[in-house]
Amino acid sequence: MDFVEMIKNRRSVYSLDKNMPVSDDKVFDLVRDCVKYVPDAFNIKSQRVVIFTGAKHKKFWDNVHNELVNFTGKNLSRERIYSFAAGYGTILYFYDMDVVENAKSQYPLYADRFNDWIMQSNGMLQFAVWTGLRALGVGANLQHYNPIINKMVQNMFDVPKSWVLVAQMPFGGIANAPGAKPDEDVMQRIKFAK
Ligand SMILES: Cc1cc2nc3c(=O)[nH]c(=O)nc-3n(C[C@H](O)[C@H](O)[C@H](O)COP(=O)(O)O)c2cc1C
Repeated sequence: MDFVEMIKNRRSVYSLDKNMPVSDDKVFDLVRDCVKYVPDAFNIKSQRVVIFTGAKHKKFWDNVHNELVNFTGKNLSRERIYSFAAGYGTILYFYDMDVVENAKSQYPLYADRFNDWIMQSNGMLQFAVWTGLRALGVGANLQHYNPIINKMVQNMFDVPKSWVLVAQMPFGGIANAPGAKPDEDVMQRIKFAK
């Protein structure tokens, strides 16, 4: 598929199911390649990922719901959380604070820039995986229940304390594709400076 077609096809798919069009290996290979080849500032390799499917996936979204109920003190509807649990798996994105702190002391001239750069490179990784999943026929969306769920995630996956959660990406078969994007005069946002 043409690169721009891949970018056009990536969408927030909220209607996910467990009917995966590809094997787990294909998804793991994609994640591994993206982590390996997506750039980072000064090549510090700050991005971290946890990927899981099956019972862990269900347990994770149950836990997210419980954390939200505890945090808000409200008996929240499970509808949205169920839509994520209905998918096949989840990818968690982190950055490693130890790596970032090390970079700040190694490159003091740029120390105040690294907090922005690590988020930018994390976004690049998220976009690459999201787009790559869709190219495999797999739907995904992007969620941000951090920091409310950070402690739960650390306990559930036993990740180092220095790993800071940035985003959660449930993925799975596409039960219902999203509608077409609304038309936009995109030239309002672009200046071709000739
Ligand atoms: C940095 C970033 C944060 C986002 N956070 C959320 C989120 O917390 N929950 C959610 O449902 N969608 C989230 N989205 C998805 C956007 O709402 C979505 O990408 C946008 O509306 C365009 O729709 P599309 O993904 O179908 O092209 C996020 C997207 C980006 C790039």
